[in-house]
Amino acid sequence: MYALSADVKAYESDKAGYYRTLSAQLKSLLEVERDAVTNMAQTAAFIYSMIPELNWAGFYLVRQEDKLTLGPYQGRVACVHIPFGTGVCGTVAANREAICVNDVHSFEGHIACDSASNSEIVVPLVKHGQLIGVLDIDSPVKDRFTPDDLEGFKLLAEIFLQASDI
Ligand code: SME
Repeated sequence: MYALSADVKAYESDKAGYYRTLSAQLKSLLEVERDAVTNMAQTAAFIYSMIPELNWAGFYLVRQEDKLTLGPYQGRVACVHIPFGTGVCGTVAANREAICVNDVHSFEGHIACDSASNSEIVVPLVKHGQLIGVLDIDSPVKDRFTPDDLEGFKLLAEIFLQASDI
């Protein structure tokens, strides 16, 4: 079945390959159900346990016109609402472009939900041309993520979108 924790050695030796393996695993993990909440919960738990050095992984959702609302996640309690255009998540929601931030403390308007976070990747979730939310991944390590991580999370986000009715 699925490994229960990150294979740090495999991750460090070939990140792109590691994300390809995770993509196949996530696909089969999500194929039993199309409910979006179920699949968000599974995706967040899967990412949190399979990628090393994370302190938060989860979803913010478009529930109202001008702000994001907290969805399923793993990590410490977080901000419930993030206005579009504010912080990393709100910027990604406004621009619909994924961002990799090496040092969140130098990002204009960063919202410090968990003071342990130092770097972050946020990927927009767009289905049928509509923004449904963002996938937010935080690490306590500065400069934690590379372009391979960004591409990897885009891949995992796409698998979630394909596997879910939204
Ligand atoms: N740091 C984020 C807020 C969300 S928490 O990290 C979970 C931001 O600036 O968008």
